[in-house]
Order: sequence, then C-alpha cells, then structure tokens
Amino acid sequence: MKELRIIVATDKNGVIGINGTLPWKIPEDFQYFLDKTAGQICIAGRLGYYDKIYQKDNRKPIIISKTIFPDVPTVGSLTEAISLAEKMDGDIYICGGQKIYEEAILLAETRPTRLLITIIDKEYEGDRYFPEWRHLPWRQVWSKKSLYKNVKFTFYEFVLNNDK
Ligand SMILES: NC(=O)c1ccc[n+]([C@@H]2O[C@H](COP(=O)([O-])OP(=O)(O)OC[C@H]3O[C@@H](n4cnc5c(N)ncnc54)[C@H](OP(=O)(O)O)[C@@H]3O)[C@@H](O)[C@H]2O)c1
Repeated sequence: MKELRIIVATDKNGVIGINGTLPWKIPEDFQYFLDKTAGQICIAGRLGYYDKIYQKDNRKPIIISKTIFPDVPTVGSLTEAISLAEKMDGDIYICGGQKIYEEAILLAETRPTRLLITIIDKEYEGDRYFPEWRHLPWRQVWSKKSLYKNVKFTFYEFVLNNDK
C-alpha cells in the first residue's frame, strides 16, 4: 500500500481558494508544489485541474469528475483514483480541491499518509477550505520558515503511521 501525500497551502484559517484560483501569489510555495509533484501521480478534482501544470514535468494526473476527459485518466471518486494510482509508478499526491481534501483526511486514518502543508501567516478571503486535520496524531518530520513581501509562511511535513 503506497503512502498518500496530501499537498496543500492554506492561510491561517484554512482558506485554500477563492473564485477558482489561489488567494495569494507566493512563488516559492508554488515552486515547492512543482518540485514535489514533478514526475509523480497527481490526483485532483476537475476544478483544480485548472491550468496545464498537471500535464508538465512528466506529472501523471488522475482527475476526479463525472465527465470523462479525453487524454487524462478520469475516475468518479477518490478511492477509484487511489486504486488506479496504486498500479502506476510514482508517489501519490492528493492535490485538492476542498472535497478531495476532506475525503483524503478521512482516509488518512486508514493508511500511511504524509501531509505537506504550507501555512501562510495571514488571513485571506476565501470560498474553499482545507478540513480540520490537527485532531489526527501527526508527527512533524520537517519544517521551514520563509517570507515573501512581508508575508510569513511555513512549510511543514507531517506523517501518520497507521498500521492498517
Ligand atoms: N491552496 C491549495 O493548496 C489548493 C489546492 C487545490 C485547489 N485549490 C483551490 O481550490 C479551488 C478548486 O477546488 P474546488 O474544491 O472548488 O474543486 P475541485 O475539488 O478541484 O473540483 C470539484 C469537482 O471535482 C469533482 N469532484 C470533487 N470531489 C468529488 C467526489 N468526491 N466525487 C466525484 N467527483 C468529485 C467534481 O467534478 P464534476 O463536476 O466534473 O463531476 C467537482 O465538481 C480553487 O480555488 C483552487 O485554487 C487550492
């Protein structure tokens, strides 16, 4: 069973998006996402599949949608996406949006999971949120503080070791 890697950036209140896009422009965080996911399996909801990044750098996208996309593996649920990803080469990154993250956090209790979360130390207006996650027994394995135009943010990596 492969580890699930949930990758997300949130503001201090859990905001992840507004009007179909990110509420912030933080190049270092975007580059971090690109570096981590290059060459890997990226599971994303249809709306999060908004630009071409998933088709670049040998990423292997799996889209969750009721609509079938011509050149991209498309499935109807997160569990189907994970089953498909288990048969492919590469690490499994869960790339949102809101509902996908909610389901991934529920699944985290049942299988090995890593959370790569960037927390931006600022409040943004938003209409999409990352779910509550701090109740799970995460172990922090890495962090790095950074700054962009007076906005502080911290990269964190947590793991959950479930024996199931
Ligand atoms: N800050 C971050 O790290 C981050 C990461 C990702 C996204 N975002 C932001 O989040 C927003 C986009 O996310 P979103 O939550 O609006 O949409 P989304 O999850 O990317 O896409 C929603 C669509 O995905 C499909 N879908 C989602 N969950 C499903 C499920 N459980 N079963 C079947 N289909 C499912 C449906 O497609 P169909 O309607 O085609 O069936 C649904 O309409 C944007 O603002 C984006 O910038 C932020």
